[in-house]
Amino acid sequence: MRMGTLDGKIAIITGGGSGIGFAIAERFARDGAQVVLAGRRPQRLEEAAAKIGRGARGVPTDVGDETQVKRLIDSVPRVDLLVTCAGGAVFGPVEDVPTQAWSDMFQSRFFGQLSACRYAVPKMAPGSAILLCSGVAGHAALVNYSGGAGLCGAVNALGRSLAIELAPKDIRVNVLSPGLTRDTAIDWGVPPEKLSAFMEGLVGRIPLKRSGTVHDMADAAFFLCTNTYATGQVLDIDGGWTAV
Ligand SMILES: NC(=O)c1ccc[n+]([C@@H]2O[C@H](COP(=O)([O-])OP(=O)(O)OC[C@H]3O[C@@H](n4cnc5c(N)ncnc54)[C@H](OP(=O)(O)O)[C@@H]3O)[C@@H](O)[C@H]2O)c1
Repeated sequence: MRMGTLDGKIAIITGGGSGIGFAIAERFARDGAQVVLAGRRPQRLEEAAAKIGRGARGVPTDVGDETQVKRLIDSVPRVDLLVTCAGGAVFGPVEDVPTQAWSDMFQSRFFGQLSACRYAVPKMAPGSAILLCSGVAGHAALVNYSGGAGLCGAVNALGRSLAIELAPKDIRVNVLSPGLTRDTAIDWGVPPEKLSAFMEGLVGRIPLKRSGTVHDMADAAFFLCTNTYATGQVLDIDGGWTAV
């Protein structure tokens, strides 16, 4: 039987039903991990788990609800890898977007990641790893995404702080900061007929002149979760966007 780097590891992956989280789950499972996918839609999770195979399973969870996050973590005997990719985005001019929309986004994408750490850490042995997910808006100009920029910056700061706090337990914490990534279900808040022009506008600002793939993100996630000396890092995988 083929030996994988992650043989025997239990990996919880929120947002694992689609996009970046799904690609990470596939990659980890291929390397031997037993993956547990979390997301709100049971059918999406079931289909994703079936596609991955290798014992993958879904636990329907809204990460914005701390009780559900606790139930997710309670469903596993231990956590070797925690990857928190769940959440969507909200786009719009600052004067148009209701504050509640940004608040809801923070509830799932900031507090969802924080509460997953809160419940997972007691179940993590030395050598375990956490990977948070932010986005280049934390330090790249992205118009009509002011609340998202604040969110990404907050997640980056959370990751660095937790890395220091958890280093004495030998639990590593890093942040994946994706740039423009295709093949995801993310809602850009743009009418379908304007989507390709919107995307072209974004791609035009990226030095590599193309979007990334979910597999680019999964490769980075695998690196950050398996390199035993990497902690406290925010890794932008963005075609050079943040280098400009
Ligand atoms: N795609 C990009 O260009 C890009 C760039 C920068 C950052 N990001 C970030 O990367 C992360 C992954 O997104 P993606 O691009 O892979 O998009 P995606 O395909 O939409 O994946 C997001 C996943 O999160 C789940 N989710 C959303 N809200 C949730 C909640 N409250 N509780 C539990 N699960 C929830 C969704 O499933 P359900 O709807 O079934 O819950 C979905 O499977 C997101 O945080 C996104 O903002 C993406």
